[in-house]
Amino acid sequence: MSNILEKIKILKKQKNAIILAHCYQPVEIDKVADYVGDSLYLSQIASRTDADIIVFAGVYFMAQTAKLLSPNKKVLLPQIEAGCRMADMLSHRQLKEFLAQHPSLPTVCYVNSTAEVKAECDICCTSSNAEKIVKSLGKSKILFVPDTYLGKWVEKQLGNVEVITYPGFCPTHLQIRPQDIENARNKYPEALILAHPECHMSVSSIADYVGSTAGIMKFVEKSKDKTFVIATEQGVTDRLKRDYPNKNIIPIKSNLICPNMKMTSLEDILHVLETEENEIFVDKDIAQRAVRCLDRMLEVSK
Ligand code: 13P
Ligand code: SF4
Repeated sequence: MSNILEKIKILKKQKNAIILAHCYQPVEIDKVADYVGDSLYLSQIASRTDADIIVFAGVYFMAQTAKLLSPNKKVLLPQIEAGCRMADMLSHRQLKEFLAQHPSLPTVCYVNSTAEVKAECDICCTSSNAEKIVKSLGKSKILFVPDTYLGKWVEKQLGNVEVITYPGFCPTHLQIRPQDIENARNKYPEALILAHPECHMSVSSIADYVGSTAGIMKFVEKSKDKTFVIATEQGVTDRLKRDYPNKNIIPIKSNLICPNMKMTSLEDILHVLETEENEIFVDKDIAQRAVRCLDRMLEVSK
């Protein structure tokens, strides 16, 4: 193990590379990561870095987003097969059909989407800034793709914007049912229940806090409470257990994993650093249009 960690460290230095890791990655990836966080944080880092190579320990849309924001850098995805099942639910054609059904409305696009989809939308958002982004448009009616639950969550929070959503969802978060929350409340009455906004509304509406992966981690860090039930992917639970051994961190269910996020290994990271395989490319015309959507988001999120 220490051998592989050492090799990755040396190659990072030799090649002026950085490793970005999403909080759903296997927890051992943090041993080599320069930055660990949620989608917004990692895209902000990708837009600012001086590194020549970005190794993105995450899923395809995240590496593609890094490439859009840093077009002159080499972006490598350790496992080229690692996709996002929600992003796969909305093709360019499906988006065009959806837009045609609701003409002339501004469209907000969750970052969990392809560059082709981003290229057709007005502004991007992540789970940590979705409310702020929708509000910034100053409209009473908008379209939101592809996550119906994040879109509906934002609608509920804002109260004065009608959000018409595309019926996409995250199969990992939809495994969490309201009954799981009720069971957790009965078993751990002292616990606070923290959920990701990709959960079904019947779950997020009864949680004590709803926020992005980084939002959940920050909540635990700042809270004086001791017991937390975590309703999101296991990577967050694993990191919280590691970082707060004196707090009681309980997963809402066992094995709540995103299979794509768990594909990455340290060996894959070493392999792409050695060979520079799995480079991400985006068609120039699509990239030019898609990056506008991301730039607008970063401007509003400053
Ligand atoms: P975050 O915005 O919290 O990083 O979430 C990304 C994601 O894919 C959650 O499923
Ligand atoms: Fe996509 Fe869900 Fe995996 Fe996030 S957890 S990357 S939304 S499939």
